[in-house]
Amino acid sequence: MKLAILSRAPRCYTTGRLRTAAADRGHTVKVLNTLRFGIDLSGPEPDLQFRGKPLSHYDAILPRIGNSVTYFGTAVVRQFEQMDVYTPNTANGIANSRDKLRATQILSRHNIGMPPTTFVRDRADVIPAIERVGGAPVVIKLLEGTQGIGVILAPELKVAEAIIETLQSTRQNVLVQRFVAESKGRDIRALVVGDRVVAAMRRVAKGDEFRSNVHRGGSVEKVSLETAFEETAVRAAQIMGLRVAGVDMVEGADGPLVMEVNSSPGLEGIEAATKLDVAGAIIDYIDNQVAFPEIDVRQRLTVSRGYGVAEIVVHAASDLVGRPLAESGLRDKDISVLTLHRGARVIPNPGKGHVLEDGDRLLCFGKLEEMRSMIPARRARRVKKLPKQPIHVI
Ligand SMILES: Nc1ncnc2c1ncn2[C@@H]1O[C@H](COP(=O)(O)OP(=O)(O)O)[C@@H](O)[C@H]1O
Ligand SMILES: [Mg+2]
Repeated sequence: MKLAILSRAPRCYTTGRLRTAAADRGHTVKVLNTLRFGIDLSGPEPDLQFRGKPLSHYDAILPRIGNSVTYFGTAVVRQFEQMDVYTPNTANGIANSRDKLRATQILSRHNIGMPPTTFVRDRADVIPAIERVGGAPVVIKLLEGTQGIGVILAPELKVAEAIIETLQSTRQNVLVQRFVAESKGRDIRALVVGDRVVAAMRRVAKGDEFRSNVHRGGSVEKVSLETAFEETAVRAAQIMGLRVAGVDMVEGADGPLVMEVNSSPGLEGIEAATKLDVAGAIIDYIDNQVAFPEIDVRQRLTVSRGYGVAEIVVHAASDLVGRPLAESGLRDKDISVLTLHRGARVIPNPGKGHVLEDGDRLLCFGKLEEMRSMIPARRARRVKKLPKQPIHVI
């Protein structure tokens, strides 16, 4: 394949390793500076320039978008997506994971363990928010920090309030998170590629520091992951739309708690700690997936009039409970079930024999009118009827 690594740091360890791994496998590989692209929307098809000249064809890209260039970098990745070039990490995935609040919001509905987190704006809401997550000591985080910068442990309520007010007065948005004391300055970084964890390490904070980031002096050691950590890491990465990701988790009393999902994980620490060829695993994965560029399913499936994608929840009271899919009547209503979500499990293309249970969630494609009647009334009745008389604006 012909692969472009989008990076502004051609000489850093990770870029070098990825380039070498690709070349060793006989691929054509180029490192292209993300900021030298030109997004071209003037012609009939979406196009890209590089250093002012039309870009030649690539089969795949591997975006390594730095924090300081998220907006432009994700625009470039999105343009490649529009051109049907394969990328393991989508522009949306990168943008969503970069913002700690947005990432937490997205993950929160998928049964992924996370430290209790809140986000408020008004002064009057700060103290109640801290109390809601368990009171001081409490962790305060800038929405877009990295390398442990912008992550603060406030020992007391008053100090926490003062820090939040100070940050907000400089127009910084912060979130408030329960301090997971039982993790004792240790966390787990799992390197997810596709649907598996290819390497994992434990990071231990230096001295009395609670942040285990290597940039904060943390040390790393190889670790073999328990199944719960492995599954959580893979699911978190997939939900974010990232096929190459570094998932950070702390060990809470009841299992893994995801803190963040990194879309451009560094490889130096993890390859040194595990002695594994992580770069090679990434390149092999991309080579395998190149034929499947990202498709915005909702967008593509909503083009036929009256048809769309919806999630139908099987409720205890519903007559779907206890019936196999074949007898659910969905097919007769022109509804196809794409996936069945049961707790943390997903059954793709569920067969006719699957017996439906209370709480199952069915991702369906079909006639919206038919599906509307199966969605709980509270959600389905969103659209207010317009008043009969026109409204007069004076
Ligand atoms: N709620 C928390 N409880 C305990 N430790 C935390 C918590 N949040 C962060 N940490 C520690 O701080 C480190 C950095 O936090 P993280 O949210 O990953 O920010 P960054 O993007 O700067 O790495 C984590 O790796 C972890 O060791
Ligand atoms: Mg981190």
